[in-house]
Amino acid sequence: MITRRLLALAATPVLAALLVGATQGGGGTPGSATAGDPYFPLSGDGGYHVVHYGLSMGYTPATRTLAATATLSSTATQDLSSFDLDLSGLTVSSVLVDGSRAQFSRTGVKLQVTPARPLLAGESFRTTVTYAGVPAKVTDPDGSADGWITEADGSSFVAGEPQGAMTWFPCNGHPLDKSTYDIAVAVPNGWTAVSNGRLVSQRTEGAKTVFAWHESRPMAAYLATASVAKFQVSQSWTAAGLPVYSAVDPREAKAAGPVLDQLPAVITWESSLFGRYPFDSAGAIVEHAHDVDYALETQSRPIYDRAPDIDTLVHETAHQWFGDSVTLGSWKDIWLNEGFATYTEWLWDAKHGGPSTAKRLAADYALPAGDDLWSFPAGDPGNGGNLFGTPPYERGAMVLEKLRETVGDQAFFSILKTWATDHRYGHGDTAQFIALSKKLAGKNSGTLDALFATWLYGKGKPAQL
Ligand code: ARG
Ligand code: ZN
Repeated sequence: MITRRLLALAATPVLAALLVGATQGGGGTPGSATAGDPYFPLSGDGGYHVVHYGLSMGYTPATRTLAATATLSSTATQDLSSFDLDLSGLTVSSVLVDGSRAQFSRTGVKLQVTPARPLLAGESFRTTVTYAGVPAKVTDPDGSADGWITEADGSSFVAGEPQGAMTWFPCNGHPLDKSTYDIAVAVPNGWTAVSNGRLVSQRTEGAKTVFAWHESRPMAAYLATASVAKFQVSQSWTAAGLPVYSAVDPREAKAAGPVLDQLPAVITWESSLFGRYPFDSAGAIVEHAHDVDYALETQSRPIYDRAPDIDTLVHETAHQWFGDSVTLGSWKDIWLNEGFATYTEWLWDAKHGGPSTAKRLAADYALPAGDDLWSFPAGDPGNGGNLFGTPPYERGAMVLEKLRETVGDQAFFSILKTWATDHRYGHGDTAQFIALSKKLAGKNSGTLDALFATWLYGKGKPAQL
């Protein structure tokens, strides 16, 4: 599946090398070595789907060493003579496909695997990768750190958006591919390893404790975590029977406590707006990692670089619907994550004594034309360095308030809930969101093309509010 789009991307040196390698193989079709995302052309492989990841890992904070076996249960979506996994750093000692030794080579962040015999389209196959080393974070186009981030005491802050999953496990690392996960981590006694979903077992064997986690709903690789620290753990159940597991660095416990106490109320309120909570567990991972300087909506259990304030808690919880359950298929659509999570903060604040959402929109609109807010369109960030800039967040929220004011509350909240429901556990793109808005807007649908053209795609500050 080497498309014209991919050939255009071959200007990227590593990718060009991969393509040359791919065409030399002969006998069958190699995987595409990309999911085709123009912002992150090295991410993913369009030739197979990973149904399930089983990660069995050991982490030693004193030496920052990870030793692991990853078992990927996949389905080929085309005939494959070889395929690629994303993996940055670390040393691979063996790769098996269906139990037989496979050839492998490494080029940049790609681990190319050539099975003993080619795979056929539709065939299920199991890839087992054994690897070890000291994981190293990657630096994103905006200069922020991403992936397995190690703190001074050896604890790990593991957050993979947009491309950091490959720093700790071999993956089809583009959000187009979503999978279930079993993640087990052995750590020295006294340390806790926290991941996504439910804690299935915790057992101490000699000097080590193994924490085994299961995420039962499809998850994009960037939302996986395996964060290790000397956490204080609390476990409880919401009134609705949802298990809540939170792990907090003791240095953040005093500030985090009263905010995390509100998590059940935030989930209940967001469920009333967006439909039932999509996952079978909840919680928080609160680290003392102030140098990271961001939080991430790791699936079912967001990770925070410090004790969150209530707005940040509301934001990361909203992402469980917008981003985690309904996932973008292209990084360009980041406003579908960040605009929606930010607008949820506006709604929370308006309900709790803050300014109305209309006032928030007007206050933003009053910002001068030179402000960062107007630096690029929320719906077209242009490159991966802009994903977490102001427009996808704040202008994204403005788009939703404009939509609400145009279609009215009833249609607007129905659009949000229908969006979350129709695309639950899958993907959604901007064209689909616009189509749904028009469908549910009734008599106001005719004005929506202009609204999105101006507020989502317009360059600079719109001429009028
Ligand atoms: N999605 C996160 C949020 O809740 C931000 C992630 C930032 N990632 C990064 N590499 N800077 O807004
Ligand atoms: Zn966000």
